[in-house]
Amino acid sequence: MGSGSGKGKTILFGEHFVVYGLPAIAAGIASETIAHVTRTDKPGWTLDDNRPEMPGYKEKKKDEQRVSIDNVIRHLGIDLSKSGIHIEFGGDLVCASGIGASAASCVALARALNEEYNLGLDDDAINQAAYEGEKGYHGTPSGIDNTASTFGGLVWYVRDLRGGPPTFERLKLREPVYLVIASTGLTASTTEVVGDVRAKKETDPQWFEEIANEYSTLVHNARNALLDLNLDKVGQLMNRNHELLQGLTVSCKELDDLVRVALDNGALGAKMTGTGRGGNQISLAPDEKTMNIIADALEKSGAAAVWKTSFGL
Ligand code: MEV
Repeated sequence: MGSGSGKGKTILFGEHFVVYGLPAIAAGIASETIAHVTRTDKPGWTLDDNRPEMPGYKEKKKDEQRVSIDNVIRHLGIDLSKSGIHIEFGGDLVCASGIGASAASCVALARALNEEYNLGLDDDAINQAAYEGEKGYHGTPSGIDNTASTFGGLVWYVRDLRGGPPTFERLKLREPVYLVIASTGLTASTTEVVGDVRAKKETDPQWFEEIANEYSTLVHNARNALLDLNLDKVGQLMNRNHELLQGLTVSCKELDDLVRVALDNGALGAKMTGTGRGGNQISLAPDEKTMNIIADALEKSGAAAVWKTSFGL
């Protein structure tokens, strides 16, 4: 049997903008998806998906998942025409939009296949295979999710729009930073939401350019503020990033409500994270005590799930 894991992630700055070549900052989180692969006599592959989920997530993503698994297997050159494999997904990463669940499963699968078939792949090659898998979930992934999932830590990421390898850099902070992740419980389709932004951008390029120009300055300021551990500034920039995402039409009432609750309860900054129109929201906490207060308030306000985490080391 071959096994492998992939980490969940949260995007601190730059979802959607990253698709168009602007920098983004993502943080790996401790929760992960684990894949086990065993060989079988029957051709093809079968799957037991035992990952915990927000209700409806796995059903909604079933068809995309099938394409994604096929993509990873094909990319790795594994021939299942004579004998096959059984895949099992598990782990403690709760599948929800915005937490990198699809990328984590692609990374975990690529690592499990690497082990089972002795492919000798390094992390860059695993990341590449997972990127092919991510294409099953939406045709034009920026690659930030699989990169954060493969390498973990805090990542500065820039996609190469000409199709070359992305630029990514690990950012190390002097101290960990506390973060609360809250789920709306709604599953969004990345294909649809990214597609809507693209369509709107094509009909009104100036609309997108104005928002993207402001974001471009913002993300460089965010990088500096993070490295300086100037959390007040990081928080302000998260708030503005959320407003810019509202401008892109990818937030929704449920996400905006969670942002408001977090800010009313001591968060230095709060925003949606990931695809949007559902999925998750994140809150920056000044310390552990406030992180607990924010998490309690979000739970009481009706968030479908709340996780406390830290990033930066
Ligand atoms: C999804 O987690 C992040 C998006 O920016 C899409 C992508 O980067 O591929 C919305």
